[in-house]
Amino acid sequence: KKNIIIDCDPGIDDSLALLLALQSKELNIIGITIVSGNVPASVGAQNALKVLRLVDRLDIPVYIGAEKPLAVPFTSAQDTHGEDGLGDSQISPVTSVQPKANAVSFIRETLQQNPDTTVLALGPLTNIALVLQEDPNCFAQVSRFLVMGGNYRSHGNCSPVAEYNFWCDPDAAKFVFEQKLPIPIEMIGLDVTRKIVLTPTILEYMKHTDQRIYQFIQQITQFYFDFHWEHEKVLGCVVNDPLTIAYLLDPTLAQGFDSHVEIATTGISRGQSIVDDHNFWQLSNNCHILTSVDQTAFWCLFLTRVLKAEES
Ligand code: BDR
Ligand code: CA
Repeated sequence: KKNIIIDCDPGIDDSLALLLALQSKELNIIGITIVSGNVPASVGAQNALKVLRLVDRLDIPVYIGAEKPLAVPFTSAQDTHGEDGLGDSQISPVTSVQPKANAVSFIRETLQQNPDTTVLALGPLTNIALVLQEDPNCFAQVSRFLVMGGNYRSHGNCSPVAEYNFWCDPDAAKFVFEQKLPIPIEMIGLDVTRKIVLTPTILEYMKHTDQRIYQFIQQITQFYFDFHWEHEKVLGCVVNDPLTIAYLLDPTLAQGFDSHVEIATTGISRGQSIVDDHNFWQLSNNCHILTSVDQTAFWCLFLTRVLKAEES
């Protein structure tokens, strides 16, 4: 089994990503660490517990991490994810288990003690930056580092040029990309995640499978559907984070290229991921940027794993 740590900010699409990981037997989730992003970290931690309860995996520890970005004021995304981060779905809180504190120490110690662990970051990079500030060699033995964030040719989703995770904590993103990590950062940005759209048809299909999981997904995504319809007149919602898990499980799902990437931190370019695809700067590659994805293959994987659709 692959050992993984998932750092996230659940979040509607983070929750779908967690479900995909939890329903994948080849993954061993050592811990789930929470950063402030879509919602404050303490709210996100409760949401992670709700997902764990759904699949009876409350044995997996959840750690609360950074409450705010490194330097800029915190801006949540409760307009898109609901006040509770799960589309105001009123799912009852988990009271039998409490989240733990000190996500940053947990990540650092786990990576120091467990070679070959994969780190997946699905929220702002604050926790990861703090880990690397405490121990710059912490990623020495990390197997892979997958980050949902940024954009290459695609427009931003919270400014013309910036994606939310990098925009929310641009200083953390900049710091992480500047570290000379022994492995490339695998950037799963809006160019590919925008193509993963949960449509009413896919949701309808889920109805015929595991009822508890279907109802959970239906409850948490209704708000997202309404948001997309109201703002963009699109029927269906983009779910960004699950592709990161899917790509870990099946790297043939998406393709990209290697380049040097830097993150802007201020002014109108705050949070922009600048990809030096023409090698103007002559700097070594620090990133693998995904640019194309097979959406059908993604949904086949998701439905098979999360809802065991093939067995119904
Ligand atoms: C990212 O921002 C968040 O709102 C989502 O959970 C995802 O991680 C997309 O820009
Ligand atoms: Ca997220």
